[in-house]
Amino acid sequence: MTTLTDRLRAELDEFRRTGVYKHLNHLDGPQGARAVMEGHGEVVILSSNNYLGLCDVPEVVEAGKAALDRFGAGTGSVRFICGTFTVHRELEAELAALVGTEASLTYVSCWSANEGLAPTLLGEQDAVISDRLNHASIIDEVRLAKAITKCQTAVYEHSDMADLRAKLEQFRGCRHVLVITDGVFSMEGDVARLPDILELARRHGAAVAVDDSHATGFWGWRGRATAHHWGWLGLVYTDTPPLAMAVGGGGGGFTAGSAAVCDYLAQRSRPMLFSNALPPTVAGSAMASVRYLVARPERVARLHENAAWFRGALLEAGFKPLPGETPIIPVILGETARAITMSGMLLDEGVFVTGFGYPVVPQGHARVRCQISAAHTKDDLERALAAFKKVGAKLGVI
Ligand SMILES: Cc1ncc(COP(=O)(O)O)c(C=O)c1O
Repeated sequence: MTTLTDRLRAELDEFRRTGVYKHLNHLDGPQGARAVMEGHGEVVILSSNNYLGLCDVPEVVEAGKAALDRFGAGTGSVRFICGTFTVHRELEAELAALVGTEASLTYVSCWSANEGLAPTLLGEQDAVISDRLNHASIIDEVRLAKAITKCQTAVYEHSDMADLRAKLEQFRGCRHVLVITDGVFSMEGDVARLPDILELARRHGAAVAVDDSHATGFWGWRGRATAHHWGWLGLVYTDTPPLAMAVGGGGGGFTAGSAAVCDYLAQRSRPMLFSNALPPTVAGSAMASVRYLVARPERVARLHENAAWFRGALLEAGFKPLPGETPIIPVILGETARAITMSGMLLDEGVFVTGFGYPVVPQGHARVRCQISAAHTKDDLERALAAFKKVGAKLGVI
């Protein structure tokens, strides 16, 4: 009989043979515009959620150290059992103020925040509707909600409002319907059609949850999140719970919404009740990130200038990035192996940009995804562009 380990080894060999095996790259220093990567020296990083470039900002790092000195290294247990730290309460108040909600609740990751949402808020009489290109954590959140609560679920085609309307009609008799969307879609870089989603939801009495991991801190007015971008703040955030990754790019997640939503989640969400809280160091750094961002809106402006420059330069060089206006700039290549090859060749040229293939993106839509940061200098971006042109020409992409 084949053992489990034998089967896994055989599958791993197959991943290697077909060129889809992912090699982990090791950094030997902080995330920044450039970083030192084992075996490659200094590389330009075009593959990080460090959009605002706050990971290595001295104030942010120092705040983490100060929290470590004051609160220690660990949290001890979950918050309701062993007590919670004042730094969490303070951070949650500042995050709510940042995104303009009554309250917020932090989790050790945005994955946990997502998993804690629909399965906690919904029941058997309810339904959840999710965009086809939502992040994997939302896909699993919906699966979990269905398994745990027996609620109904549906997926609407990406940003297709006619399909969303049809799904809302389908669930007309339900007690609650929750529509979940990414604010900025992580693999495409496009922005959710929030005004249309909110209008449809309002007409059908549905609630909307937005995962703003790729928007909080840099999208909308002074980077407050997608709801600000669309000028719909009150409606989105009043009785619906948008989510976001810590703006420092340093980890952690939170749910923000009405005080009732956050209080209910604190009472009942399983990742809150059965998993340790955000480590105090991360909470301290996250709070410093929020303060840094609020005090320096020019960081957001710089990020958008950098993204517009790089997108324009790629187009001029003959690449066809997916259209958009966010700092996520995907160049579609087709097969997974091609994306991984291009990523490897770019790394040989000193540019770190990850190739994504199936199952992260649909079959045939593999890509290298560039993520631009406010920390990039013109020199960083020019170096990255030169590498793209060289490798793109070699591979026949341009
Ligand atoms: C849109 C989105 N939601 C959730 C997550 C999960 O976040 P975390 O790494 O905090 O679990 C990610 C991760 O990159 C993401 O891109």
